[in-house]
Amino acid sequence: MSRMVMSGKYYNDESKSNTSVVSLEKLQWMLDEFFLLNGVINLGDWVPLLSWFDSQGYVRRMKELGKSFVEFHNSVLEDHKAKAKENSVPRDMVDVILQLADDPNLEVKLTKDHLMGLVHDLLAGGTDTSAATVEWAFQELLRNPKIIEKANQELDRVNGKERWVEEEDFCRLPYIDAIIKETFRLHPLCALLPPHYSIEDCNIAGYDIPKGTTVFVNAWSLGRNPKYWDRPEEFIPERFLENDIDIKGQLYIAAIWFRKEEVPRI
Ligand code: HEM
Repeated sequence: MSRMVMSGKYYNDESKSNTSVVSLEKLQWMLDEFFLLNGVINLGDWVPLLSWFDSQGYVRRMKELGKSFVEFHNSVLEDHKAKAKENSVPRDMVDVILQLADDPNLEVKLTKDHLMGLVHDLLAGGTDTSAATVEWAFQELLRNPKIIEKANQELDRVNGKERWVEEEDFCRLPYIDAIIKETFRLHPLCALLPPHYSIEDCNIAGYDIPKGTTVFVNAWSLGRNPKYWDRPEEFIPERFLENDIDIKGQLYIAAIWFRKEEVPRI
């Protein structure tokens, strides 16, 4: 995933890349520390007086981590900028962001801080998420040999045994697609999605949400609600084959979040 985001090896492992900025071990620690600190309850946030003392040490750790990330992202961006001069075709997501930043017609100009934030979103948002979800999918597959068999049959029929699956093959692999969606349903990455903030009064599925509300969507309970899902605790990819849900799962996601009446059923 990190290769899709930023191509070059900016961390070193046994292959000792000469563009490396941190060790692989340090980068893994930075990402682990980031996710851990994201989820902690910092007393000072709830009792402002206590924030002076930082008794749990979280704020100190966040500041240290922040410095390490700024250094890392800065090097990635500078290296990409230097290489962009030789290469006009974007090779990875950082190149795409840099090209976007150069667009003179942008309504909101992208500053260096924005760019570092975007690189961070892609790296942190794309790595642990994908790894954890793949682990859940395999955990379900190992418990359901019949599903593996059906998936294999589909792969053999559509792709044959001689080549790897390419991105463009996905539209011809509905069963694999259904396995992915069923994994998302049963094992959403976080039970509560990251907090969202309403910037204006709105009404969603009959609920009035005033401007300035922090909204937590409980993805875990939506995916397992027996009102909407038959045998919700079971891993049944077939339930998605009978619904008109697009490859990105957009209708499914919108449906379970906001429009109860359109929630897919068996
Ligand atoms: C199985 C893989 C993934 C899962 C389960 C996942 C899950 C999520 C979730 C739950 C959110 C919060 C959505 C919300 O509440 O609005 C999110 C947001 C985000 N994800 Fe992913 N994600 C995955 C892969 C990726 C990848 C590969 C990237 C990029 C390389 C990525 C980048 C982002 C970004 C940038 C956001 C913030 C979007 C925004 O706030 O507008 N994610 N993801």
